[in-house]
Amino acid sequence: MANPPPVICVDGPSGSGKGTLARAIAKKLDWNILDSGSLYRIVGLYAYSFDVSVEDDDALKQVVESLDIEFANERSPNIVVNGRDVTQAIRGEEATRYASLVAKREKVRAALLVRQKGFRRPPGLVADGRDMGTVVFPDAKLKIYLDASPEERARRRYAELKDKGLNVSLPDLFQSLKERDAQDKNRRVSPLKVAPDAFVLDSTGLSIAEVIAQALAAAKQKGLQITN
Ligand code: DC
Repeated sequence: MANPPPVICVDGPSGSGKGTLARAIAKKLDWNILDSGSLYRIVGLYAYSFDVSVEDDDALKQVVESLDIEFANERSPNIVVNGRDVTQAIRGEEATRYASLVAKREKVRAALLVRQKGFRRPPGLVADGRDMGTVVFPDAKLKIYLDASPEERARRRYAELKDKGLNVSLPDLFQSLKERDAQDKNRRVSPLKVAPDAFVLDSTGLSIAEVIAQALAAAKQKGLQITN
């Protein structure tokens, strides 16, 4: 494409609030959105459901190719895969565990790369994940690396789940968050890391409104038009 639509990337560890920030920016700019983690979750869910080994790259590639994914839009906020609504299922325990296992596989990442690039449509895209700025959209107009201390991320998750009436333990959440951080940062293919040209935004101790304000200020500095 001669003049590809602009992209804003929001990368960072689990629980840093990437989704909330990405949605707020997309709403403000009226741009498209890509929640790349949900793609890995869908592949994880299908690998688990069809008993596909997470070591079998060719079978995993077939899984990716067999998926007809319809994403949320204004008409329907749900994610539908091959005719089945998986909105809840991809947030479940097995899909979450399998997502991080399939995310390590080079062939899965390569197959998903093409799909992710397909989300880049006018007037622009806000993409959140782990490697949006480093691998998928290296020419992004703005790359945000959203961080927060592990303690704060675990506390936020705890409050969120408690709010939903779930019985969870803060020490368990903290432990599993540390494990996911280690997996994301230490994997060989596309590990989570700060892009050299990223704006690092540490949200520890900040309100959501403060995080959004800082991100929008960074977008303005990059020459993006933000009205009101
Ligand atoms: O952001 P999330 O928790 O929905 O991500 C689910 C899994 O996918 C998690 O293990 C990290 C992985 N992931 C990835 O490897 N690359 C991305 N761009 C997005 C998510």
